[in-house]
Amino acid sequence: MSRLTYYGHACFGVELADGTKLLFDPFITPNELAKDIDIAGVGADYVLITHGHEDHLADAEEILKRTGATLVSNFEIVTWFTGKGIEKAHPMNHGGGFDFPFGRVKYVNAIHSSCLPDGSNGGNPGGFIIETPESSFYVSGDTALHSDQKLIGEFHRLDFGVLCIGDNFTMGPSDAAIAAEWAGIKKAVGVHYDTFPPIKIDHTAAKGEFAKRGVELLLPPIGDSIDL
Ligand code: NI
Ligand code: MN
Repeated sequence: MSRLTYYGHACFGVELADGTKLLFDPFITPNELAKDIDIAGVGADYVLITHGHEDHLADAEEILKRTGATLVSNFEIVTWFTGKGIEKAHPMNHGGGFDFPFGRVKYVNAIHSSCLPDGSNGGNPGGFIIETPESSFYVSGDTALHSDQKLIGEFHRLDFGVLCIGDNFTMGPSDAAIAAEWAGIKKAVGVHYDTFPPIKIDHTAAKGEFAKRGVELLLPPIGDSIDL
């Protein structure tokens, strides 16, 4: 069991059973829908960034410097943050896993793009598989549906997934439901929807797309926490 807190867009925290706090894709202060979140209260031991786009890292530097958390991302993104004075950082690349004190993290494929806000090369975009003794899950990052997601279901036993569902820039609900099925996920938390006009979605219809495949789609309100 772990506790997920949704901070809007594709940003969420997961507090593991051992107390370790993982924070993914911090983008809070520029998000009008997340205006009630006080980022000074957002804790992190590790900040994991899927790819270089602004809507996944706008608040990362501030949170990393305040908390002293370790950054985990691809080599190019870690190098970019190192240049901003972030010293605690762990670079990865696709297909590679690493055993952190809290569990194993694998950086996996995503089909998307990944330039950094100043135009620097953000490497290739990815997602994460997190496997801990108490809780294992897949974070898709921004991605299209892709058949490598079948490999996740073949070789990992996961408790839940955090999947982009907003369509237009990423998978929409029907493709994300297929990804969940392929990855062997029965519970999915939807992210990357409603923040901007092209990614506003019908929540009931989205849940219906997942239900068709036997997957429960959870859409916690911004600021809410759920146990998974
Ligand atoms: Ni993106
Ligand atoms: Mn995005």
